[in-house]
Amino acid sequence: MKDKVVIITGSNMGIGKAIARHLGALGASVVLNGRDAERLSQACDQLREEGMEVSGFPADIADPESCRQLIAHAVKKYGHLDILINNAAISAKGFFEDTRPEVFKQSVDVNILGAMYATREALPHIKATKGQILFISGLAGLRGMPFQGTYCMTKMAQTALAESLRAELYHSGVHAGIVYVGITKNDPTKKVVFNDGTWRPLPERTHRFASTQDRVAKVVTRALERRRFKTTVGWDGKMYLYVSRFAPWLLDLVFRNNIDKFVEHDT
Ligand SMILES: NC(=O)c1ccc[n+]([C@@H]2O[C@H](COP(=O)([O-])OP(=O)(O)OC[C@H]3O[C@@H](n4cnc5c(N)ncnc54)[C@H](OP(=O)(O)O)[C@@H]3O)[C@@H](O)[C@H]2O)c1
Repeated sequence: MKDKVVIITGSNMGIGKAIARHLGALGASVVLNGRDAERLSQACDQLREEGMEVSGFPADIADPESCRQLIAHAVKKYGHLDILINNAAISAKGFFEDTRPEVFKQSVDVNILGAMYATREALPHIKATKGQILFISGLAGLRGMPFQGTYCMTKMAQTALAESLRAELYHSGVHAGIVYVGITKNDPTKKVVFNDGTWRPLPERTHRFASTQDRVAKVVTRALERRRFKTTVGWDGKMYLYVSRFAPWLLDLVFRNNIDKFVEHDT
């Protein structure tokens, strides 16, 4: 990672910030992003105090022009771009039939279109360095789950894009990869959007088996170093991958008989 220039969308908190810390500690120059400029500035100050080379660019990735400016900022500041990590996402909860159309739109705008705009703008620069595009997905990108159909749909779309890019970019030397993150301990300030359009804090995840953000960042770093295509994080990630591939009927059974647990977990 030494001297690599990395943009991480949605990195003023949470998993994105943890990845920034890991890559920064290995000598990468990291451009952090998020819409909340104050939180972004605090995150940058914190990482600089820890000795890392970082720069912050506040931008809404749902806006194509903002994505153009984000990529231009990195290239202007550091001279080139090696890695784009599409991490920014919003998580929508609720039953599909009760979900307001604006929640569909927000989710698609950020999780799908945002990743597409940023990737398209970054590609000419990443081709020049034979670099990498990495998508941060989750269990939702492996199998549709009750109470989060909108979120699952957007995360699966990222798989499709990663697979297409992997083939399209193979001969250019650019690597496209995707990391399926399992249940992870969240920042206490993390909020999710519900089907009625309200944003509510996500209850802290206290399960013993939930990964830490630090663990996720380590796995992401290894995936980048080894240029791996599909990577899972945590035992739940591995279990989902294998069961959804080899015994999808088992997940169907578990999901349909435990819908109330999904609701309870996320409310
Ligand atoms: N936490 C988990 O258990 C888990 C599990 C599986 C996968 N994941 C995936 O991991 C990634 C990070 O999750 P997280 O839990 O760390 O999320 P988080 O704590 O909610 O942070 C989301 C980040 O995205 C930014 N963001 C949201 N909308 C944006 C927009 N339109 N433009 C730019 N930035 C935007 C937020 O900053 P602003 O609000 O300031 O814009 C924030 O920095 C996501 O892709 C998520 O789907 C998480």
